[in-house]
Amino acid sequence: MSLPHSAALPPVIAIDGPSGVGKGTVARALATRLGWHFLDSGALYRILGLAAQRAGVAIDDPAAVAGLAPGLVIRFAAEGPERIEVNGADWTAAVRAEATGALASAIAVHPPVREALLERQRVFRRSPGLVADGRDMGTVVFADAAVKVFLDATAEERARRRQKQLSEQGIAAKLPALFADIRARDIRDRSRSHSPLKPADDAVVIDTTELPPDAVLAQIEGLLKAKGCAT
Ligand code: DC
Repeated sequence: MSLPHSAALPPVIAIDGPSGVGKGTVARALATRLGWHFLDSGALYRILGLAAQRAGVAIDDPAAVAGLAPGLVIRFAAEGPERIEVNGADWTAAVRAEATGALASAIAVHPPVREALLERQRVFRRSPGLVADGRDMGTVVFADAAVKVFLDATAEERARRRQKQLSEQGIAAKLPALFADIRARDIRDRSRSHSPLKPADDAVVIDTTELPPDAVLAQIEGLLKAKGCAT
């Protein structure tokens, strides 16, 4: 498939949105369908938060947290979507834990932390193209993305989705606690001064509250076609 884009760099499809909206499912499926690379930018924030916690570095010391980033050798195993290795060890379960999401959101407010992860995200942009999932893919990291999508859904629906996802992994979680966590992360992610969560001016916003992942994917593919991309 070819996308119209002016730069010589490989094209990017940016998929942003709040916690629990289902960006990962949709973005991964799209990358697989297109045969493109995939970036889970949230995983990088999660890994850095965990690395700080494990090294005993204070989460509210942005320079120290950011300073850990260059020493992390991160590998997203191509075989199986969920295996994440850091410095040779399997961190998958810890990276995906609910508490790690809150940790990531807390360190992500600090400009030095965001700066430390910027180039690490951009190296994922490789031929034939990249589907990038996060909060600021379309606004900051890949501001020149060929297509920008912002997925949204009510906090109640996102909490329900998270509960279902966790229950599929055999983890029981109470809806009120998940809802509170999602609300807290929404407030922090949207109100931070550096790269806040918001749709890019040229993003297409899709409210997924009533839509299953297949229907969201179909809408995005329709968007690619409308933009002159043959899928
Ligand atoms: O997508 P996620 O739930 O794995 O992200 C965890 C946190 O990381 C999220 O609450 C905010 C932060 N994050 C960010 O600030 N910018 C990104 N591009 C991705 C994640």
